[in-house]
Amino acid sequence: MNDELWTTVDDYIDTLFVPTDQTLGDALLDSTVAGLPPINVAPSQGKLLELLAKLNRSRRILEIGTLGGYSTIWLARSLPDDGELVTLELDVRHAAVARQNIDRAGFGSKVEIRVGPAADSLRDMISEGVEPFDFVFIDADKEGYPQYFTLTMELSRYGTVIVADNVVRAGAVIDPASSDERVQGVRRFLDLASNDDRVEGTVIQTVGSKGYDGFALLRVNN
Ligand code: SAH
Ligand code: DHB
Ligand code: MG
Repeated sequence: MNDELWTTVDDYIDTLFVPTDQTLGDALLDSTVAGLPPINVAPSQGKLLELLAKLNRSRRILEIGTLGGYSTIWLARSLPDDGELVTLELDVRHAAVARQNIDRAGFGSKVEIRVGPAADSLRDMISEGVEPFDFVFIDADKEGYPQYFTLTMELSRYGTVIVADNVVRAGAVIDPASSDERVQGVRRFLDLASNDDRVEGTVIQTVGSKGYDGFALLRVNN
């Protein structure tokens, strides 16, 4: 078992279920040209996000960590005509690339990008009293996950689905003494979520073109 085989199997899965797509291909190409890091979700994971958001009949989606808008476009595809997506990004350069990609994909009017530290944007939305979100994808800095979870709960309703990316980290997540702040952030997040009576959930380990990692899937029950 190795990364090369995982990638080959991912390619096979993509051939079957996630055919190459001009819009998403262009988004990745322009992200690369602009010098953004290639840390977007894999195609099969993007499709999973679209499916999960659809299964929950999501009309309002929140994304924390936009990068070039690749996962944003997948999520936006799940939305009904009156759907909306808010995506949070710290880096103004990333946000500019994402804006172009999202507009070109035809989701310009549905997607709002809020630029700045995600925790600030989340607090702003709580103060503004925005409608709760139906689906939340947490994928920004891993050190921030505990805060993002706590604030996201204030923007959720009964039945809101929360997905958090990169919580297994090639197995590093099980080391309580890890000196990696990202591991500590993820551990604190999983600790909070698993001890919170307002949510139920699990973590699924994954292998594929992005190596060995995993995602948390939570459902808000209050
Ligand atoms: N969801 C994207 C990948 C996101 S990568 C995709 O799959 O296509 C993580 C992003 O989070 C980066 O663009 C990074 O700039 C952003 N980020 C890092 N720290 C942040 C913060 N404090 N607030 C908001 N965004 C942040
Ligand atoms: C990184 C971030 C991600 O969200 C991801 O899926 C993979 C890698 C990173 O910061 O290196
Ligand atoms: Mg990620």
